[in-house]
Amino acid sequence: MRRLQLNNGLFIPTIGLGTYKSHSNEVKEAVKYAIDIGYRHIDTAWYYKNEKEVGDAICDKLKEGVVKREELFIVTKLWNNFHETKNVVPKLRESLESLKLDYVDLFLIHWPFAFKEDADLLPSDSTSYSDVDYLQTWQGMEECVKLGLAKSIGLSNFNEEQITRILQNCKIKPVVNQVEVNPNFNQKGLIQFCKERDIVVTGFCPLGRSTQSIDTPDCPLSTILDPKVKEIAEKYGKTSAQVVLRYLVTLGISVIPKSVTKSRILENFQIFDFDLGPEDIHYLDSCNRNQRVSAMTPYKDHKYYPFIIEN
Ligand SMILES: NC(=O)c1ccc[n+]([C@@H]2O[C@H](COP(=O)([O-])OP(=O)(O)OC[C@H]3O[C@@H](n4cnc5c(N)ncnc54)[C@H](OP(=O)(O)O)[C@@H]3O)[C@@H](O)[C@H]2O)c1
Repeated sequence: MRRLQLNNGLFIPTIGLGTYKSHSNEVKEAVKYAIDIGYRHIDTAWYYKNEKEVGDAICDKLKEGVVKREELFIVTKLWNNFHETKNVVPKLRESLESLKLDYVDLFLIHWPFAFKEDADLLPSDSTSYSDVDYLQTWQGMEECVKLGLAKSIGLSNFNEEQITRILQNCKIKPVVNQVEVNPNFNQKGLIQFCKERDIVVTGFCPLGRSTQSIDTPDCPLSTILDPKVKEIAEKYGKTSAQVVLRYLVTLGISVIPKSVTKSRILENFQIFDFDLGPEDIHYLDSCNRNQRVSAMTPYKDHKYYPFIIEN
């Protein structure tokens, strides 16, 4: 099990299972299978509406004795409607109840920008925006650690300026910033920035949402569909997804590929039995086009929208 050390001394397993859009009828089996074959890091979120099924899977595996709680690294996230300090602990308690856990290993602020509490989860107009400052949210996150409800706390989709503000005002440092990372959008600048501040980057959308990327306008075509990457993969007797994931972990990050397909869950975990040559890394580096899959552009006029600066 490869792991990265966090700034509080704890460890995050390098490969995790993503669960966004893993539907409630399939995610339990996916998580159970993942734990059976060695995954210890599971990424979910209040927003994904599947914490209950993720929790059912974890419960089964704990009961069967396949794994002990302390061997697992469970991540969930606070959604944008609940950024007020007073809402953070209750929302984590709600997630914990669904997950049937006493604590999560990592609790993240899903996005730096907030919506009003009674607004839609993805509101369609700016009257639903809230300008609660994420520094207020962070105070609630710190309370979660003090109460023992989260071992570690972190950020997601925060830019360099926002991370700096948190670092200048926090009592407990964020351990992770979870952001999109794939060869089309390799985030080398932000990864370096985080490394210098002892923050681990977790890369989401590592496979560039391969299927969706084919028929979604504005979504860059996933690198796992690139014929040159397929050629590289054939050279090593691996798949394109394995080559891409192997490349991403060489950037010093953890990655959370999502799948509900057993063969792919297995495939995505088997990436440490080969090394990419310098010419292959060079090719994957050259795929960077600074195009995001997950840009949340409808909210680009929000005061705390993160992607208005380069990193
Ligand atoms: N913090 C955030 O704002 C944020 C945003 C987005 C995602 N995330 C997290 O990051 C995780 C991963 O990102 P993502 O789900 O958006 O995208 P992704 O992992 O890049 O892509 C998932 C897609 O790739 C397919 N796939 C998986 N393994 C494959 C393989 N070996 N070969 C070919 N196709 C494969 C999956 O299909 P099947 O499932 O059908 O196998 C699914 O359609 C999420 O699930 C979520 O946990 C976080």
